[in-house]
Amino acid sequence: MTFPADRPRRLRRTPALRRLVAETRLHPADFILPVFVREGLDEPMPISSMPGVVQHTEQSLLEAAEEAADLGLGGIMLFGIPAVRDAEGSASLDPQGILNRSIAAVKQQVGDRLPVMSDLCLDEFTDHGHCGVLTAEGAVDNDATLEIYARMGVAQAEAGADVVAPSGMMDGQVAVIRQALDDAGHQDAAILAYSAKYASAYYGPFREAVDSQLQGDRRSYQMDAANRSEGLREADLDLAEGADMLMVKPATAYLDVLSDVAEASDVPVSAYQVSGEYAMIEAAAANGWVDRRAVVLEALTSIRRAGATNVLTYHAAEAARWLREG
Ligand code: PBG
Repeated sequence: MTFPADRPRRLRRTPALRRLVAETRLHPADFILPVFVREGLDEPMPISSMPGVVQHTEQSLLEAAEEAADLGLGGIMLFGIPAVRDAEGSASLDPQGILNRSIAAVKQQVGDRLPVMSDLCLDEFTDHGHCGVLTAEGAVDNDATLEIYARMGVAQAEAGADVVAPSGMMDGQVAVIRQALDDAGHQDAAILAYSAKYASAYYGPFREAVDSQLQGDRRSYQMDAANRSEGLREADLDLAEGADMLMVKPATAYLDVLSDVAEASDVPVSAYQVSGEYAMIEAAAANGWVDRRAVVLEALTSIRRAGATNVLTYHAAEAARWLREG
C-alpha cells in the first residue's frame, strides 16, 4: 500500500477551512439589480415567465430602489416601458418619457448611495421592437441609430444616470455616446458597454417583461453564439471607444467569453445573468428539482469565478439578504 503524497482533501475538511481557502466570495455590492418600470401602471404587474419579478409602477420602483440601496447592492439598472411606441422610439428622448423621468426619480430617492444605471437602447421604445431605427427596406440602420443613441445618452445623463449602458450592439455606439456626453458637459457619466452581447434564446422571458413587439430576431446586430474570439474583438473596440466598463451577456452559457474578456481587459467587467437563466432556475426550483438557494448562489459564484467584477441578476436583492444572514 502506498499513501498519497498530496492530499487536497485536508483543506476541505471543515466549513471553516473551506472558508479560509475560498478564492471567490460573494458580496451584496457584486450585484446589480435590473428593474422594469411601466408607464401608466396602477399596481406592480407580475411577469409570469419570471416568477418573483414584476413590472414596477413609478411608486413601487422607488421602493425597490430604496431597498437596493439599503442592502448595499452594487447598482440598479433601469428599463422603461412606455405607454406609446413609434418607429423612431421618440419617448426615449423625452425628458418626461418613462425611463428618463424614472431615472430622475430614482436618483432623487437614492442620491449617491446607489449607482443609478440605465439601459440605453431603442427596443423598448420602438413599435417594431428593434434596437435601432429601420431603413426603407426594413434593415436596422446602424448610423441613423447612433445619432439617436447619442441624444438618448445625454437625456439619461441629464436625468441623473451615473452610468449609461448601451445594449443595442450598433457599431461605434460607445464612441458617439462618449463624445455626446462630453460635449454636453457630462464627462462624469460613465459608460457600461454591452460588449459581447449574443443573440440568445435566453432573453425569452425579457420579451414579456418589456412587452416587446419584436417580429423576427436580432441576429444582424447581436453576436452569433458560435463565436468566441469575436467577443474579445468587441471588447477591444469598446475599450478603444472609451468604455469605462464592459459586459458579457448572457452569463452562464458564455463563461468562456467572460473569462477571455476579464483576462484581456483592465477595466471592470460585468456579466448579465439574463431572464432565461433566472427563469430556468426558478422553474426547476418550483418543481423541487434543485435546491433554489444553493443553485442561485452557485451560479453567481461561478460567474464571479469566471472573472466578472459584478453580476446583473434578478436575484440581486434576495441573494444580498442571504449573504447578510450568513
Ligand atoms: C435590449 C436588452 C435585452 C435584454 C437586456 N437589454 C433584450 C434583447 O437584447 O433582446 C435582455 C435581458 C434579459 O433577458 O434579462 N435592450
